[in-house]
Amino acid sequence: MNAKEHLCVALDSSDREWSRSTATALADHVGWLKVGLEAFSAHGPALVEELADFGPRVFLDLKLHDIPATVKRAAANCAACGASMLTVHAAGGRGMLEAAIEGARQRAGNNPPKIVAVTVLTSLDSAALSELAIDKSPADLVRSWAVLASESGLDGVVASAHEAAALRRDFGEDFLIVTPGIRPASSATDDQRRVMTPAEAVRAGADVLVVGRPITAAGDPVEAAKSIVEEISAADSTF
Ligand code: C5P
Repeated sequence: MNAKEHLCVALDSSDREWSRSTATALADHVGWLKVGLEAFSAHGPALVEELADFGPRVFLDLKLHDIPATVKRAAANCAACGASMLTVHAAGGRGMLEAAIEGARQRAGNNPPKIVAVTVLTSLDSAALSELAIDKSPADLVRSWAVLASESGLDGVVASAHEAAALRRDFGEDFLIVTPGIRPASSATDDQRRVMTPAEAVRAGADVLVVGRPITAAGDPVEAAKSIVEEISAADSTF
């Protein structure tokens, strides 16, 4: 697989024209375009349908979390608008995770989107978890929720690259590991607390690296994406 297939750019903006022009510029340099809550709440399924024609696959990151019946129908709608990967919160529990798979399969037939579970947001550290009355460490929580995701039939998880090596070891090669919180050595960390460089993330076993601001806020986003792809490819020659 080409190294760029492992890079996903997060199109976090409410400005449709910005999303369109950024996607156009980056289409040949990334494998995935991520539409998250900000862009989706502004432009909805029409934006996903439009971006699905640009070349890279669309990762619709809505982090679904509701009762199973609602998530089932929402996942069906996400599949219908052309998303190739969806996120659900592992915290929604087994019934909700299974319902998401069922809903996505109903509408996408033979080629359903990948469904990955958000474990612990990379903006949360131990202190933030403790404020939420969760006593486990981020690593322990990620592992417990990844077990649930795997047992429920999901394709993989979203997790910090810091957890990627343990997840890869415990869940094997077919388990998809999607890692945000990626920062090239020269970038600001912004509001991400548990960051890793692209090379470190790849070596730890990440499959898809989600990168937002280090690309989109760069003076030259195409150069920034190309340099990350080079770093990915240098870190793992099989990529
Ligand atoms: O700009 P930055 O590289 O921090 O963007 C990271 C993207 O990954 C954002 O769209 C954010 O919503 C998403 N994300 C995350 N942590 C998770 C899941 C998704 O940062 N656990």
